Amino acid sequence: MILKLLLHGCNGRMGQVISASCDKDPEMEIVAGVDINTAFSNPYRYPVYKTLDECSDSFDVIIDFSHPFAFDALLKYATCSRKAIVIATTGLNKDQIATLDSLSEHVPVFFSANMSLGINTLIALTLKACDILDANFDIEILDSHHSGKLDSPSGTALMIAENINLHKDNPYQFVFDRHTVRAPREKNEIGIHSVRGGSIVGDHTVYFAGKEEVIEITHRAQSRNVFAEGAITAAKFLYGKEPGLYSMKNLVGS
Ligand SMILES: NC(=O)c1ccc[n+]([C@@H]2O[C@H](COP(=O)([O-])OP(=O)(O)OC[C@H]3O[C@@H](n4cnc5c(N)ncnc54)[C@H](O)[C@@H]3O)[C@@H](O)[C@H]2O)c1
Repeated sequence: MILKLLLHGCNGRMGQVISASCDKDPEMEIVAGVDINTAFSNPYRYPVYKTLDECSDSFDVIIDFSHPFAFDALLKYATCSRKAIVIATTGLNKDQIATLDSLSEHVPVFFSANMSLGINTLIALTLKACDILDANFDIEILDSHHSGKLDSPSGTALMIAENINLHKDNPYQFVFDRHTVRAPREKNEIGIHSVRGGSIVGDHTVYFAGKEEVIEITHRAQSRNVFAEGAITAAKFLYGKEPGLYSMKNLVGS
């Protein structure tokens, strides 16, 4: 079986990597792309439209690596098309994320701020460390990304922090900016920080800073292929599934 894909954000960094990955995958065919930026000539084998409404091609699943501004139109289109959708765009606001629940009543939706399998392992190890280490260990999270990344902190850094809070009885406060307050950190907080520069694909480190010792758990994505492969695996996983909201936990069973 060949899965027919609509690629939303096809001209971006991730869109280009997904296109190259699908070219090598006999189970995948991109039938159409959508990107607001159609300034350069189309290098792909598939047609590229400026808006979703222009696309009348028949497809099985949508993969989205675009921009939060594109989300509302994408949601409307996905609701009408009743096709499975993989949403990888980060920087969505709380209201946008909340609407995924209603979309998932009608279609299978896969949503993850990080499509790499490795980051799920980092989260599992982090939760294990939370269980082992006592409250004297302060938790801080650092994300490092390329100079073109729009959102900060990364969706993945927030995903790690949110997973810690779901795991704990007493939630931590997230602190994003220490320069406005001159005071020692509180025990019940997680500091979340960002580095932006060069071509860093995506690094995340969780620090457990204790008395005279520090544990660091780090994941480094060495190429965008890890996100592309994860998104394609998610698209294959979604096909034929019941409507619902799925995540990496469903994919790797952790
Ligand atoms: N979940 C993950 O694993 C993962 C991994 C990498 C990147 N991302 C996220 O995916 C998104 C895209 O990343 P990127 O590095 O490819 O960014 P990019 O800026 O290189 O590409 C985004 C593309 O979306 C297009 N776009 C913007 N607004 C649009 C609209 N309204 N309609 C249609 N297309 C539109 C842009 O023209 C651009 O070509 C970002 O939010 C990024 O943080 C997620």
